[in-house]
Amino acid sequence: MSSTGTTARLLPGGPVAEQVLAEVAEDVAALRAAGVTPALATVLVGDDDASAGYIRIKQRQAAQLGFASPHVHLPASASQADLHRVLADFNADPDVHGVLVQHPIPGRLDYDRALQVLDPDKDVDGMHPVNMGRLALGLPGPLPCTPAGIEALLAFHGVPVAGREVVILGRGATLGRPLAMLLAQKRPTANAAVTVVHTGVADWPRYTRRAEILVAAVGVPGIVRPEHVRPGAVVVGGGVRYEGRRLLPDVDESCAEVAGAITPRVGGVGPTTVAMLFRNAVRAARRAAGLD
Ligand SMILES: NC(=O)c1ccc[n+]([C@@H]2O[C@H](COP(=O)([O-])OP(=O)(O)OC[C@H]3O[C@@H](n4cnc5c(N)ncnc54)[C@H](OP(=O)(O)O)[C@@H]3O)[C@@H](O)[C@H]2O)c1
Repeated sequence: MSSTGTTARLLPGGPVAEQVLAEVAEDVAALRAAGVTPALATVLVGDDDASAGYIRIKQRQAAQLGFASPHVHLPASASQADLHRVLADFNADPDVHGVLVQHPIPGRLDYDRALQVLDPDKDVDGMHPVNMGRLALGLPGPLPCTPAGIEALLAFHGVPVAGREVVILGRGATLGRPLAMLLAQKRPTANAAVTVVHTGVADWPRYTRRAEILVAAVGVPGIVRPEHVRPGAVVVGGGVRYEGRRLLPDVDESCAEVAGAITPRVGGVGPTTVAMLFRNAVRAARRAAGLD
């Protein structure tokens, strides 16, 4: 027991990401051996320091994994049409297999409209409406990265999901809603009884208290407290808010005193999200090369 009274087993995302990225690196090497250089293009709009930093990290990681990573940096004054043109060019380029638009983009531009211009097969975030539809129908395609990362995290740490009661707090398009679809699918690492609660369910703790696996997907710091957690449950903290560089998670640290297993405050779901981005990119390259 630590000085904070923590009893829960920790479920770090780092080792999960390492395993996924090792598989990605093998796939990249096989593609290169077959004469295909997988390419993950990145698009940055404007001069936000944090966004520029995230793009640099992803480009460095892309290079380490063996991807080409063509990059376009549009000025903050770029129009919606400028952004669409860049995406249309990448769509038309057979040497580009995946495209990542770093968000947030400047507020006067519409991210969702831009996403709809992107070829769904090159959508490494897995957020294009076509890919959401594929997920709903159980068809192959890029999966939304954070939900896919959470499924991988639970599987890696040997947390059984099939047949168990999963409650997701939050129904947002990035996390709660696609995660509910993913974990309800008929597969050994999913196949759960999934309930989604939100602001429309005033007494949401009634549901979270019975969850064997509780996923916080809200973005309200500290919203999940020990009294919302069933003793011994698995708690996954997906939702976070940033204040400057400070990360404020949905799950209050004291939940570790009640939970049986819990993602750490830092290094939980985040690293798995990034790994899934590269998994989507290499799979897109394999599909384009006719290997999948
Ligand atoms: N860790 C990562 O790598 C990663 C990656 C992506 C996203 N995230 C985080 O995941 C979180 C969710 O993102 P998102 O885009 O899916 O969600 P979102 O669109 O921001 O929606 C948040 C959800 O939380 C619910 N909610 C908000 N306040 C609530 C309250 N007081 N009580 C109950 N429910 C409440 C909302 O309910 P209503 O629908 O009723 O409004 C909504 O369903 C964010 O914090 C985001 O930063 C993390």
